[in-house]
Amino acid sequence: VTIQWFPGHMAKAIRQFEENVSLVDIVFEVIDARIPLTSQNPEVARITGEKPHLFILTKKDLADREATQRWLAYFKDHGQPAIAVDAKDHFNINDVLSVINPIMSPKLAREEQKGMKKRPIRAVSVGVPNVGKSTVLNRLVNRRAAQVGNRPGVTKGQQWLKAGKKLELLDTPGILWPKFASQEIANKLALTGAIKDSVFASDDIALFGLKHFRARHRDQLMARYRLNDDDFALSDVDLLLLITKKLGMRDDYERASNRIIQDIRNNKLGGFTLDNLEELQPNVTRND
Ligand code: G4P
Repeated sequence: VTIQWFPGHMAKAIRQFEENVSLVDIVFEVIDARIPLTSQNPEVARITGEKPHLFILTKKDLADREATQRWLAYFKDHGQPAIAVDAKDHFNINDVLSVINPIMSPKLAREEQKGMKKRPIRAVSVGVPNVGKSTVLNRLVNRRAAQVGNRPGVTKGQQWLKAGKKLELLDTPGILWPKFASQEIANKLALTGAIKDSVFASDDIALFGLKHFRARHRDQLMARYRLNDDDFALSDVDLLLLITKKLGMRDDYERASNRIIQDIRNNKLGGFTLDNLEELQPNVTRND
């Protein structure tokens, strides 16, 4: 997999995000519930520093339900505020407010005691591409479509958007690229659609997906592609070729690969989570 990497854009995006962080009380890092670790950008924790930092795990409707519960418990154990949402269809601003109000109220109460005017909590969101930043922003401010420029590092006049009475958000979410530290990470980002299809070979990604599903959700894989137990004696590559045939695509395994990727992304094989807590190495997350 050859990944396009833009250090210049990245530096600019980081500078912009640093400026934004100085304007807010709390940072919302939007991450994907299917890859709660891989979709984090370690720079966010560094730049956020001592400021409160909430993880919003989007796409919980697409993730493995139990895995999401385990991730939320893990974050809680590590003192990291986190919530999981379906930003597309079932978003409720109160889920966010009920987590951030207790975090922010001591600071706001201190300000009021000093005679400062009562004010809303100010926040900025940040995340890797396609994770759901605009969707979350639009839900929070209760509008239908993003008016937000989606190009990294591009900022027009910044505005505060009202999200209910108690919260204000900067209108431009920060966009930071994920770190492609390994092939595994690149595969996870590709399978979940965080990086553009044009930068990877579809058969590599389909094989990566097949491997995950045969290990974790074999029944779903069998049902979707009408496989039987014996088929699982095949290697991943041979399984891909078999599925290609079963899909009526003869030997066009590239087309079959694209179908499999779309099926996985569209949850035709059920919810899935690619980052597994059991595989977590010590010191991988920020609060260890
Ligand atoms: P970004 O600003 O971080 O780049 O992401 P954006 O909000 O544009 O969301 C990227 C895609 O993810 C969108 O789908 C969006 O609908 C979808 N999405 C965001 N949050 C959720 C969620 O919680 N659950 C589900 N199922 N999907 C979510 P799209 O295919 O680009 O557009 P469309 O399908 O909405 O038309």
